[in-house]
Amino acid sequence: MSSPPVGVGLVGAGAYGQFCLAAFALMPEVYVAAVCDSDRVRAERFAAQYGVRAYTELSAMLNDSAVEIVALNTPPFLHAEQGLAVLQAGKHLFCEKPLALTLSEGEALRAAAEQTGTRLTVDYVMRQNPLWRMAARLREAGVLGKLLHLSLTNHAAGLSLPAQHWFWNKAQSGGIWIEHGVHFFDAFAWVAGAVGTVSAAQRFVNAAGQEDRVEALATYGETAAHFYHGFTHSGTTEQTTVALTFEHAYMHLQGWVPTNLTFSGLDAAGHAAIQPFLTDDLRVTSMSGASLVVDTSGDKSAVYRACIQAGMRDLAGAVRDPNKSLRVTVEHGLASLRMALEAERL
Ligand SMILES: NC(=O)c1ccc[n+]([C@@H]2O[C@H](COP(=O)([O-])OP(=O)(O)OC[C@H]3O[C@@H](n4cnc5c(N)ncnc54)[C@H](O)[C@@H]3O)[C@@H](O)[C@H]2O)c1
Repeated sequence: MSSPPVGVGLVGAGAYGQFCLAAFALMPEVYVAAVCDSDRVRAERFAAQYGVRAYTELSAMLNDSAVEIVALNTPPFLHAEQGLAVLQAGKHLFCEKPLALTLSEGEALRAAAEQTGTRLTVDYVMRQNPLWRMAARLREAGVLGKLLHLSLTNHAAGLSLPAQHWFWNKAQSGGIWIEHGVHFFDAFAWVAGAVGTVSAAQRFVNAAGQEDRVEALATYGETAAHFYHGFTHSGTTEQTTVALTFEHAYMHLQGWVPTNLTFSGLDAAGHAAIQPFLTDDLRVTSMSGASLVVDTSGDKSAVYRACIQAGMRDLAGAVRDPNKSLRVTVEHGLASLRMALEAERL
């Protein structure tokens, strides 16, 4: 017999929170139980859309017995304080990245989850993406040789963020490394199968005084890594590429939520080695000579939604079964935050 769905209360029905609510509402494992936002109009609008209670104070939503999991979608500077309140109220936490702005805050969240026996995960969508998963499995299996180099080029849509947006306020967002870079520090650790260390970093400040570009070098065991983020593009010109260099092939993941993966430099053995890693949610769209192109079965929105749902499904399963381990743990949140803080310090 399947378990009854788990009630999710979402706090922070902003740009991303709205997308998450829509994703959760489509899942059989959970249901939207409440919506909280300090903006009353927004709280009431989305609560009405899902036919649930609206709250403007998290403390009030935490008294709602229908809420078992809190999806924390407020800006980063609120994650530690609100996350602690959630865990201390005995609710489980689906925390947006970053886990927190400092290591001590993140460790306090870990301690609170341990003390209260609650479960805590971070919405690291790349850990749920089928193309990132394929990369991680290929490295683990070693069929393309060693993973020598990882490189991220992330030209993000900073131009669509108004000057007064919390993103540009480092006290509220933590800056690019903490607010955004944590995704990739974590994904690279997963793909390389090693803990990362940042060795050098630089930053660029634009004419408006915004730190809009950052770059860093890191190592993950034997794998060298390079990260570049520039919040210098618009929604229509943004581009993200992750390049992976194995001894016997190259891989390029396209898109911030990747939907396309190109292999090049493959020999016949490489072509054969990849076949068992093509899961049902992937399809080969072209194959010629040394190259192979693999696409996800849905477009960017569909893949993004499925990744959010997979993270929530994982947490809901762990809420119902205390012996179940989570795919994204608080340790993942802490390790990537540690790298972000190191890049920030350098
Ligand atoms: N995992 C991902 O792929 C992903 C993608 C985008 C954003 N995010 C994260 O999601 C979070 C939210 O980002 P966003 O772009 O949606 O921000 P946003 O500013 O659009 O939304 C934040 C919402 O929180 C509300 N809020 C602020 N203070 C509050 C309080 N004290 N109590 C209740 N509500 C409060 C605001 O009114 C707003 O509706 C951030 O941590 C961001 O890093 C994650």
